[in-house]
Amino acid sequence: MIDTLTPLTENQRAIQNMARDFARSELAPHAGRWDREERGDPAITARLGALGFLGMMLPESVGGLNLDTLSYLLALEEIAAADASTAVTMSVHNSLPTRMLLNFGSPAQQQAYLPRMATGELLGAFALSEPEAGSDASALRTQAVRDGDFWVLNGTKAWVTNGNCADVILAMARTDTADARRGSRGISAFIITPDLPGFRVGKKEQKMGLRASPTVQLAFDGMRVPADRLLGAEGLGFVYAMQSLEAGRLGIAAQAVGIARAAVEATIAYTRERQQFGKPLTAFQAVEFKLADMATRLHGARAMLHATAAAKDRGEPAGAHAAMCKLMASEAAMWITTQAIQLFGGYGYVTDYPVERLFRDAKITEIYEGTSEIQRIVIGRALASA
Ligand code: CAA
Repeated sequence: MIDTLTPLTENQRAIQNMARDFARSELAPHAGRWDREERGDPAITARLGALGFLGMMLPESVGGLNLDTLSYLLALEEIAAADASTAVTMSVHNSLPTRMLLNFGSPAQQQAYLPRMATGELLGAFALSEPEAGSDASALRTQAVRDGDFWVLNGTKAWVTNGNCADVILAMARTDTADARRGSRGISAFIITPDLPGFRVGKKEQKMGLRASPTVQLAFDGMRVPADRLLGAEGLGFVYAMQSLEAGRLGIAAQAVGIARAAVEATIAYTRERQQFGKPLTAFQAVEFKLADMATRLHGARAMLHATAAAKDRGEPAGAHAAMCKLMASEAAMWITTQAIQLFGGYGYVTDYPVERLFRDAKITEIYEGTSEIQRIVIGRALASA
């Protein structure tokens, strides 16, 4: 009833089933504990790698599965329905650092990292935001100065998913100079590894949700980065990051759909079973209407996501549609999980059932990889310039 209506190929169905089996057996039983303990199981990254889930859209030449966008999003939905913290690891790794290396890296850079990123031997992260540059990403201040065969980086990156356990971090820094600022065109992308002198993991955030997924600050204190770690062309780092975020936002939309689906499923099961005033909650029309609205919003968000994935795979530009998908799916997830708590009543407010975790996890999907307000800006600008 709440499965996708999108016609799937045999291969897409196989990927979906593989992800569902893995999520139900290896993630769902532990997600509540990982959330309480604020740490996941590090072995899960290796499992994701072994299943091919960390190189889903990479070509076979670098060890990827070379899958289409819809297959990737189907797998992400399944993972997120069981554990949204694992889903963000999978989404960031697949959508941001690996895509940036694939799209803009030199053949030598690709060979140095991508085959091991595809297997999960190396985990990727993405460092764009800073304490004073969140939505206004091009206001970032981390400075890179050329010194012979090195770039020397100073600054602080913020909100870095897996920044404390990543092996390869795609970080944006200014390469323009104070007397000739070039705005977003003064930003370049660098391939950072934690072994570089001057690299330090800073504050770990205490979060409302996604508590099993670490989010940290990174400090670059005179960090010396070999010159061959510059990604692509100097001054294009912001453009590369924006382009990569288009794919990232589809991933976060799939994560939101997964969270929303888990909430709808849990609420249907609970309201069928729970008796009040001598009958199951589903016998009350007020409950029936709420369930109908929850399932309808879930279907709408997922249908838009799948249509956009198909358009992207046909080679059509997906920027504004990716923003629409993230906007619609994240707001649906927040609304749906809010209704779920209400239908569970007191039991929704305590940790005995998963809906309070789903509610907390849903909130971040309206914030990271661009807030809902930023998605509206992206959509609005596309409409105005069409
Ligand atoms: N593809 C290619 N180029 C793009 C682009 C895209 N999707 N979007 C913008 N650009 C280009 C523009 O064409 C422009 O190029 P020119 O210099 O040739 O004109 C340049 O980039 C600058 O673009 P804008 O003028 O639109 O830049 P802006 O400063 O007005 O910012 C913004 C636009 C949409 C608000 C952008 O800052 C933004 O997306 N902000 C949100 C940042 C964000 O999503 N951060 C999330 C961080 S990742 C994360 O959440 C952590 C995690 O690990 C999950």
